[in-house]
Amino acid sequence: MIDVAFLGTHVRPTATAVVIDVLRATSTITLALASGYSRVLVAGSIDEATALRTPERTLAGEVGCARAPGFDLGNSPEETLEPRTAELVLATTNGAPAIVAAAASADEVLVASLLNMGAVLEQLAAREDVLLVCAGTDGRVSMEDVYLAGRLSAGLDGARSDAARVAEAFAAAYPDPLDALSASAGAVGLRREGLESDIAFCAQESIVEVVGRLSEMVEGAALLTAEPTTAAAPAAELHT
Ligand code: MLT
Repeated sequence: MIDVAFLGTHVRPTATAVVIDVLRATSTITLALASGYSRVLVAGSIDEATALRTPERTLAGEVGCARAPGFDLGNSPEETLEPRTAELVLATTNGAPAIVAAAASADEVLVASLLNMGAVLEQLAAREDVLLVCAGTDGRVSMEDVYLAGRLSAGLDGARSDAARVAEAFAAAYPDPLDALSASAGAVGLRREGLESDIAFCAQESIVEVVGRLSEMVEGAALLTAEPTTAAAPAAELHT
């Protein structure tokens, strides 16, 4: 069964949870792994990420879309194009807690964005019990996450829930993904912080092949590595 949880807090036990936070956590994780970070530690809060700081780790994260105080990077995907260390630690408002919650209840956790949509569909082709988990924005359902859930559901064979059909119908109403992302509450927050270019960046479809997959929990954080293991694309190829 293909099902959709419209909020990260609605995650439930499942064989495969696919966490979606298009603007921007799962786009950033995906691009970080594609750019050469070999491990992304997703922390449930800014404090937990801060506690994970070591000289060998780059800290990334946001509060209200802006870079968290004292962190090395914000949550813009393009900030990860030139890795500073092998490990990235990421803490965000909605997407990161959704990943940590999924790690506690799913047998397998993957991370999806428009940037790697084709690769995610390839990974999911053989899965039968899939829960597409939309992170949402500040406890509210978000257009861009439901949009991608609908695109993924529409690309998979097999039985689907009414929630999956709702997401598919929503996605079908937006022939151009940028329109769905631009109209969202998440986009409003990004524009407020002068980060509008992230919206168009995150609207790009299937520009990388890697899929972030939960490997294990490390010091309370969800450790994601690239699945399948592919050579990192040269950073220059990923610039728009
Ligand atoms: C989140 O997890 O809340 C988002 O990724 C927020 C953002 O766009 O930075």
